This record gives sequence, C-alpha cells and structure tokens, in this order.
Amino acid sequence: MTQGRIIHARIAPCTPSGAPLIERGFLSWRDGRITALGPMSEIAQDPNRGPFAEIDAGGALVTPGLIDCHTHLVHAGNRAREFEQRLEGASYEQIARAGGGIVATVAATRSASETELLAASRPRLAALLADGVTTVEIKSGYGLDLATEARQLRVARRLAAELNVGVRTTFLGAHALPPEFAGRPDDYIDFVCAQVLPAIAIEGLADAVDAFCEGIGFTPQQTRRVFAAARALGLPVKLHADQLSDLGGAGLAAEFGALSADHIEYASEASVAAMARAGTVAVLLPGAFYFLRETRLPPLGALRRHRVPIAIATDCNPGSSPCTSLLLMLNMACTLFRMTPSEALAGVTRNAALALGIGATHGTLAPGMQADIAIWDAESPAELSYAFGGRRLRQRISAGRPI
Ligand code: NIG
Ligand code: FE
Repeated sequence: MTQGRIIHARIAPCTPSGAPLIERGFLSWRDGRITALGPMSEIAQDPNRGPFAEIDAGGALVTPGLIDCHTHLVHAGNRAREFEQRLEGASYEQIARAGGGIVATVAATRSASETELLAASRPRLAALLADGVTTVEIKSGYGLDLATEARQLRVARRLAAELNVGVRTTFLGAHALPPEFAGRPDDYIDFVCAQVLPAIAIEGLADAVDAFCEGIGFTPQQTRRVFAAARALGLPVKLHADQLSDLGGAGLAAEFGALSADHIEYASEASVAAMARAGTVAVLLPGAFYFLRETRLPPLGALRRHRVPIAIATDCNPGSSPCTSLLLMLNMACTLFRMTPSEALAGVTRNAALALGIGATHGTLAPGMQADIAIWDAESPAELSYAFGGRRLRQRISAGRPI
C-alpha cells in the first residue's frame, strides 16, 4: 500500500461544480487514488496515517495533472519544407491536393521501424510531460495500412509504459487516402472498415476511432461508414470536424454520440446544439488555428450558450501543429479564442477527460479520482494561461507516483 500527501498547497480542484480554490490545503492519496483533500485546518481528519513522504508545496499551486486529449505525436519525419511553401503562398489544402501534407508523413512513417518510431516520438511526449501532462491521447493515421497503423498504436502503448503516463489510443485510419487507393476512396473505406479496424480492435490497440471529415479528407457518408463499423465493434468515436469548411461534421459526430468533435471552426449553431444534446465535447485546437493562420474562429458564443464542454489540446502533428506545449495552448486559447483562463484550465483537465471518456476517474481532484497531480511554480490558476514559452512545472505525480 503506497500513500502520499501534499501539504501547504493552493489547490484548484477543477470539479464540474466549480469547487473553489482551497487556499492552504492538503491532498492525500493511497494506491494511486485520491483519499482526501481540504484545508490544512482539517488535516487531522485525513484517513491516511502514513508512513509517507510528504511534499511541502510551500504555497504553490496544485492542479489535476493536465490531459492532452488530441495528438498525432507518433510519426516520423517533419514538414518544415511545407511550412516554407505556405509562407511562399501555398495553402494547406493546395499542398495536400498536390500529394504533400498528410501522405508525406505517411511515407516517412511507413518506412520507419518500431524502434525508429519510438525514438522519434519519445522527445515529443517527454516535452508534453514537462508541461504537467499526465494523460495523453495518441492517434494513428500516418500508416493507412494495417502494419503501420498497428505499429503506431503499439509505439503509443510502449511510450505509456516507458514514460509513466496515461495513454489513450485512437485509430484514425480514415485520415487521408493512401497512394495505392488513388481515385478509389470508397474502396479504401471498405478496406478500413472490413480489414484494418477489426484487426486493430482484436489486438486491443485502440480505445476510440476517429476520422477526418473534410474536402481533403473523407465525405460525411464515408465517415458514417467508419462510425458504423466502430459502433459494431463497441468502440467510441470522435471526429476531425468542420476545420476548413462546414460539412456538418460536428452534427454527424453528435448523431453517433461521439465523445468529441474536434477543430469545429466552421460548425453551425445547429451542429453545436446537437453536440449539447449528445454530450459531445468540443475539442478546440488553437495551435492548428495559429499555425495555418486561420481566420475563422470556433463558435465560442454558441458553445457557451448551449453549455457544450470545451476542451483544449495541442493537436501535436507535423503538418498543422508541430507543438509540444499544452501550456502554450492555454495561452492561445485565451489570446486567440478569447476563452477565460479558468475555461482554458477546465479544457485541459475535466473537459479533456470527458473528451476521452474518462471523466469518472480523471481530470479533477476529488476523493476516489486517480492521483494524477501537477505542482506548479505559480500561485494562481490564471498564471498557467498568462505566461508563455517558459517552464512552470515543479513536479508531476502520475497515479500516485511522484516523478
Ligand atoms: O488535426 N486535420 C487533419 N489532421 C491533422 C493534421 C495532420 C497533418 O497535417 O499531418 C490535424 O490538423
Ligand atoms: Fe488532429
């Protein structure tokens, strides 16, 4: 039985009920789960009796460990040349239609061995962890064949064990059309639904299924087929929706009870209302918005009016968001999307947990929840969104293990 306790901390519990900051508090855990938290004046009521190594936070801020609920961090190669092309005037869509974009990363990832892929991805995950991340979602989608998709997901699982971090994997076979299926998108979707996805599911490699519903991705009809296949296998879905145009993707995601609809700059109010009814989380990705120099803002007003939970993620990927700092995304969510610092913090804690279907165990500090905790060189939660480019993490505790 392992026990631990933090004392003299300013604790931001990040609960849905909006429990206030505990000014001078303690938080204890046992066997990886939080047992108690409260003001120091109530520490005598802590059911944990030790022995344990107590961490004196000296007034520092304590939050749930952060959750990055949308990444493509397992891939090989980079697309710096495309960045230059875009600066010379080419658009993200033009580059994709000319055979670059996602399929360029597919070529690099297909030719990387499992060891090479692990080595290329490890520093990206390590950088996220240095920002206080204790759970990360990792998608496939740069293989587009069974062997490489499976390899990406296996690497994701290996990284979880190696770096002491919670990893949720997502199968994104319907990310782009691989060259061997050129001109035959429906045949590729048949292949994904009938062969790749079932094999991935049998191996237990995916916790969820995603697709890219877009002009340069797949149609709503093709997306439906992927979602139906996921449903038949009992896997939850999420969607890259309405990033560059409104194809009704967010509404389609809601129709399938998706965990989340992601990007959604072009989503209509009707789609937002459907998300609210379905409990589908809006995952906003300010890094991609910034890096592609988008001008269409996600529908913050509608999301707030309809009370759709909003999460924030890095979208860490080589094409639209080569970013490994979740704290930078908090800052951008505020500066670019006009979110409040407290909305942004909820977006990388409790709402990010909801977007991964793990809200019952992750993303808030409360008795019974997993002891995933971040201790910061900061006093107030707003400081986490306010500063950018620095390092504020003091310590990360993952399932009760101080790292
Ligand atoms: O989330 N939109 C599709 N997928 C990624 C980009 C992938 C890439 O360009 O490599 C995204 O933005
Ligand atoms: Fe993405």
